[in-house]
Amino acid sequence: MNITIKTGDFRQEETDVVVIGMLENPDFYSGHLHLADEALGGRIRELIELGDFKGKMKDTSLLYTRGAMKTARVLLVGLGAYHELTVEKVRQGAGHAAKHVRDIGLKTATFLIPDEVPDAGNMVQAAAEAILLSLYQFNQHKTVQEDDDEKALESITFLAESEPSQPTVERAVHRGQTIAEGTILARDLSNQPANHLTPTQLAEKAEAVAADNGLRCEVFDKATLEEKGFRTLLAVAQGSVEEPRFIILEYTPEGEGQDTVVLVGKGITFDTGGISLKPGKGMHEMKHDMSGAAAVLGAMKAVGQLKPDLHVIGVIAATENMPSGTAIKPGDVVTSYGGKTIEILNTDAEGRLVLADALGWTAQYNPQGVVDLATLTGAVITCLGHIAAGAMGTDLALMDKVKAAAEKTHERVWELPLWDDYDEGIKSKVADVQNIGDGTAGTIAGGAFLKKFVEDYPWVHLDIAGTAWGMKGSTYIPEGASGYGVRLLVQLVEDW
Ligand code: BES
Ligand code: MN
Ligand code: ZN
Repeated sequence: MNITIKTGDFRQEETDVVVIGMLENPDFYSGHLHLADEALGGRIRELIELGDFKGKMKDTSLLYTRGAMKTARVLLVGLGAYHELTVEKVRQGAGHAAKHVRDIGLKTATFLIPDEVPDAGNMVQAAAEAILLSLYQFNQHKTVQEDDDEKALESITFLAESEPSQPTVERAVHRGQTIAEGTILARDLSNQPANHLTPTQLAEKAEAVAADNGLRCEVFDKATLEEKGFRTLLAVAQGSVEEPRFIILEYTPEGEGQDTVVLVGKGITFDTGGISLKPGKGMHEMKHDMSGAAAVLGAMKAVGQLKPDLHVIGVIAATENMPSGTAIKPGDVVTSYGGKTIEILNTDAEGRLVLADALGWTAQYNPQGVVDLATLTGAVITCLGHIAAGAMGTDLALMDKVKAAAEKTHERVWELPLWDDYDEGIKSKVADVQNIGDGTAGTIAGGAFLKKFVEDYPWVHLDIAGTAWGMKGSTYIPEGASGYGVRLLVQLVEDW
C-alpha cells in the first residue's frame, strides 16, 4: 500500500475518489463542505434536505462530480452527531469508507482531513489505523483469486486541508500505519495454518522481525530448554515431533534508568488438547492458539519502530499440543521453571502450563509490569463473548494502566476477581497445584493457576480466547484473526 500525506485543495486531487466524513446536521457555510457543495451545484445540501443522507454512522453516498473536480467521485461517509463523536466512531467510519471504496473496485483514494477535526492527532491516527486494518485480507494460500480478492486499493492519500495541520497529520498517519502493520503481522501469524507456522517457524519469524526493527532476539531450542529447566514447556511439547521454542525479544531505549515491562505470549501453534483430545468440530480454529504470541510479536515490531522511552521485553513460549505415545498423560506431575509442582489433570489446559515457565523466567528482569496474553479458556467466551478480554491481576496500578489503554484503543477488557478464595479450586492432592480448577469459574481458575507462578512483580493476565478471532460487528476487524492486543500493548507502553 502506497501512502501519501500532503496539503492541498481536494478539488484538484487526481484520485479515483475523495472521501469526506460527514457529521449529522452539517454546517454548509464555511470550509471544505461549502467548497464541495458549491462545486457540486448544491447536491450535497440537497441530499441532506431530502433526508437521503443524514450523516448517521455508516451512511454513505457516492456522488459523481461530472468534471466539477479533478476526481470523478466524492464519497460521503456518516460519522454521527458531533457531540457523540469518538475515536472509535472515526475508526468505524473510516474502515467502512475504505472497504466501500475497495469493494467498488477503485485503486486510489484521498481521505480529506479538515482543519477543524477535534483531537486531530488521535482522530487521524485512528482513521489511518482503521483504513489499513479494514482492507486486510488473508489469501496467501489461494492459487485462484476470487473476484473480490482482486479488488485492492493501491494508494491512499491523506490530504490536510491547510499547511499548519500537515505535521500533525503526518505524525498521526505514521503512528497509525506502524501500529496497523504490527496488528497485521499478528493477524497473519494467527491466521497461518499450523503446518505453515510451527514453533520453529514462529521463532524464525521473530528473528526476522527483530532484525528489521532494531530488536535483540534470542531463541532457546529444545536442548537449551532442557539445560535451563523449562520442564513444563517441554512436558507440553513432548507429544509432538515439532520442537518447542522459547523466544525473547528486547527493545532497549537510549539512556538509562527506565522501567522494564515484559509482554508474555501463549504460543501454542496448534492445540489438539493432547491426550485429553478436543472434539473434532471446530478444532481447526486451534491454529489460532498462538494469538497471544502473535500480539506480543506484533506489538514488539511497532515498539521497535516507535522507540518509546521504556525497556520492553517480549517473551513467547511456543509449542504444539499433540496426543501421541510420548505425550503427557492426565495425572502426570511436572515441575515448573520456578520449582513448583503441577498435577496435570487435563492435558488440554496446556496454555497455563507453558505460561508457568514463562512467568517464572520473567522474574529475572525485575520488571515494573508484566502483561500476559493467552487464548486460555473457552469459558471467557461464555462470560464476555467476543467483545472483551478477561483481565485478572495482582496490581491495581498496572490494571488501571491496562484498562486505560484498552479504553483508548477499544480493545476492550473486563476485570474478573482473582481473590485468594479461588485458590481452593486449584488445590491438588498430590502436587502443589493442579491445572483445571473445580469446574466452576473456568477463566478465573486459569488466572488463579497463573498467579501461583507469578513472582514479585506487578502482573496482569488477559484471557483473549474470545477476542483473538471471531469478533463481529466491526468495520475494521475481520472475522478471522483480529490481531487483538497489539494496539492495546503499544498504547500501554507508550503511555507508561
Ligand atoms: N486453547 C484453549 C482455549 C480455547 C478454547 C480458546 C476455545 C479459544 C476457543 C485452551 O488450551 C483450552 O483448551 N482450555 C480448556 C481448559 C480446561 C481443560 C480447564 C478449556 O477452556 O476448555
Ligand atoms: Mn487446550
Ligand atoms: Zn490452548
